Amino acid sequence: MSDSATGARDDVTGAAREVTGLAGLAAGAGEGTRAVRAGLPEPVKHEPTLPGPVFAAHFHLPGDPTGPYTYGRDENPTWTLLERAVGELEAPDAGGSQTLVFASGMAAISAVLFSQLRTGDVCVLPDDGYQALPLVRAQLEAYGIEVRTAPTGGDAQLDVLDGARLLWIETPSNPGLDVCDIRRLAEAAHARGALVAVDNTLATPLGQRPLELGADFAVASGTKQLTGHGDVLLGYVVGRHAEAMAAVRRWRKIAGAIPGPMEAWLAHRSIATLQMRVDRQSATALAVAQALRERPDVAGLRYPGLADDPAHEVAARQMRRFGCVVSFTLPTRARADRFLEALRLVDDATSFGGVRSTAERRGRWGGDAVPEGFIRLSVGAEDPEDLVADVLRALDESAA
Ligand SMILES: Cc1ncc(COP(=O)(O)O)c(C=O)c1O
Repeated sequence: MSDSATGARDDVTGAAREVTGLAGLAAGAGEGTRAVRAGLPEPVKHEPTLPGPVFAAHFHLPGDPTGPYTYGRDENPTWTLLERAVGELEAPDAGGSQTLVFASGMAAISAVLFSQLRTGDVCVLPDDGYQALPLVRAQLEAYGIEVRTAPTGGDAQLDVLDGARLLWIETPSNPGLDVCDIRRLAEAAHARGALVAVDNTLATPLGQRPLELGADFAVASGTKQLTGHGDVLLGYVVGRHAEAMAAVRRWRKIAGAIPGPMEAWLAHRSIATLQMRVDRQSATALAVAQALRERPDVAGLRYPGLADDPAHEVAARQMRRFGCVVSFTLPTRARADRFLEALRLVDDATSFGGVRSTAERRGRWGGDAVPEGFIRLSVGAEDPEDLVADVLRALDESAA
């Protein structure tokens, strides 16, 4: 703990408490152990294990304005602990990597793209990724950046890499659940001098660690399974290059897309249960996918954990857990709407990754190239047999 003159205040904020994080854990500690301890400061008598959120627009700052905490848009002690937690899970062995948290996944994505790319650069984006990417593409093009697109599956990005400055990968992709080979693409991109960013939203750091697979940035919406309760918007960037991360930090300062302290604290609190949630939700997602596979009225079923899924081989190489999202197509839009209405344990809502199952007819937004009857189902933490029964019953009822 700090013995500085500001020690009393530091104890409250956790700001100056030495952060041991996972350093004190035995090498090879399991992921559940790592998740519950991620980012925690050194224990201090009479202090909480996880210091509460620090609500501060500014900090006492006599004299020269030196950090770590000066102004609330630049830094916050609650972010510091969360950033350590995310970094420990995303890049446990990538010494020197840095993590920055943002107000949302889109804030994090924009921070990487708009801080790294300049007029005249070439960027490769997925053409089947998150539905806000076309908006990002239009903005990049408005700034004179050339955008090429490629589908996620089959490593089609290899064909459009020449001359690129940045390759953006989303794997598994949302909502189609295709997968690409991060290591292979990163090697090819690096050979051409391009940086590689991976949207790790769907997998979470417990599902895959892009930096270990060769990526330069892991970027994610923490709004989904990382926080997992459908009550927080958050994003993060983990990067291995100090200079590139300085530019991402500068972008955060300029754009001001910062998380509130309460959101940051809730996120950190939620990470303690990440392994339990991801394990449970992945196992149930597989059970749901297996049940759906038996249904003649279900087409285009995708779940990377299914042994016969087209993405399974690559996914099994680079993922440790296959995620909580299952996608499939019902014969018509009306049938899909009836199915969603018949579900009792699954809310008709967008987003994914929460402990309460959600599903939606993705075509209702108009942004994804999916059939009208396409359903994205996010499997929650309900008892697997209850959820499978609910899905099968809703399929039966909606068939009538
Ligand atoms: C893969 C992916 N990336 C990024 C985002 C954007 O995240 P946020 O809504 O937190 O801005 C989403 C949101 O659904 C997403 O699914």
